[in-house]
Amino acid sequence: MTILVTGGLGYIGSHTVVELLKNNFEVVIVDDLSNSEKFILENIEEVSGKKPIFYPFDLRRKELIHQLFDAHHIEGCINFAAYKAVGESQEKPLDYYENNLFILINILQEFKNRNISNFIFSSSCTVYGQADEMPIHETTPLKMPESVYGKTKQMGEEIILDFAKAYHKKISLLRYFNPIGAHPSGKLGELPLGIPNNLVPFVTQTAAGIRKELSIFGNDYPTLDGTAVRDYIYVVDLAKAHVAALQKLIASTEDTVLDIYNLGTGNGSSVLEVVQAFEKANQVAVPYKICDRRVGDITIAYANATKAEKELGWKADTTLEIALKTTWQWQKYLESRN
Ligand code: UD1
Repeated sequence: MTILVTGGLGYIGSHTVVELLKNNFEVVIVDDLSNSEKFILENIEEVSGKKPIFYPFDLRRKELIHQLFDAHHIEGCINFAAYKAVGESQEKPLDYYENNLFILINILQEFKNRNISNFIFSSSCTVYGQADEMPIHETTPLKMPESVYGKTKQMGEEIILDFAKAYHKKISLLRYFNPIGAHPSGKLGELPLGIPNNLVPFVTQTAAGIRKELSIFGNDYPTLDGTAVRDYIYVVDLAKAHVAALQKLIASTEDTVLDIYNLGTGNGSSVLEVVQAFEKANQVAVPYKICDRRVGDITIAYANATKAEKELGWKADTTLEIALKTTWQWQKYLESRN
């Protein structure tokens, strides 16, 4: 079965491609390389021993998508291709809306016109905002996200739900908590452009001496140690959830399926706990200072992930320390390439 993976050379996309190949799916990757690099394709081949088909183009270009669907018998799609920098999304809202939503709509049009089902959307726990209840269930009410990036995820979900209901399609919305870590081979991982915004890439670069010190954004939150709490999920566990979600859609005999899953570990870790776990796992120091809170940050977010466990037979069980070890291995690999 041939699956289109948009953004398949990106962080979560590349790990998911490896898991799809392991499970004997044929994979067609489209990635415009705007936030990824070509060597990731070679590394996917090295790690999986298989060669996915790859097209480097911008998925806003309808005519190219049309040709792609003419050339391949695509039976499902996992849509990762999107801009994802929260700060940048506030400065360039139109670029974010155009890119993230046009890509989505262009692919859904092909699905509609060619009678294809099985669509998986890469969503985010950002759609819950600061939830009033913890842990966060799939039924926890959504709040308007603070960022344009978050809004594109929420709008994307709405578009897909309407699409599935009107045209009788099978779809799965996967709401990721905080993905971290790298492939155990050390050959795939996150490639932050410039100064990282996310915690783990910043911690890693600080340990490597690229950054002088980590700024911890606030230690006056109402949490155990005063720093904010998130649910950090290992990227390979996350990748496996995509395969499980896809297999469930394919196996379903219903014509319309509207699946929504929280993908997290179910455990919250504070910023300080992440720093300490990184130091312990890798036996390196991470110098830090306490700063003001970052605007738009929430206090706490962790998943109730039992729905995914029950319905997909999937569970994120890699520990924080193991995940952070792989991040360090990936950093060493990147240094060895320079
Ligand atoms: C961020 C995005 C979220 C997106 C997710 C993708 C914001 C406000 N939210 O989530 O929409 O879906 O990334 O992974 O950007 N921290 C520091 N110092 C740093 C970096 C982070 O203390 O240098 C803290 C943050 O304040 C936060 C925690 O670490 O408490 C995690 O931050 P981050 O990795 O950026 O993820 P989120 O903010 O949860």
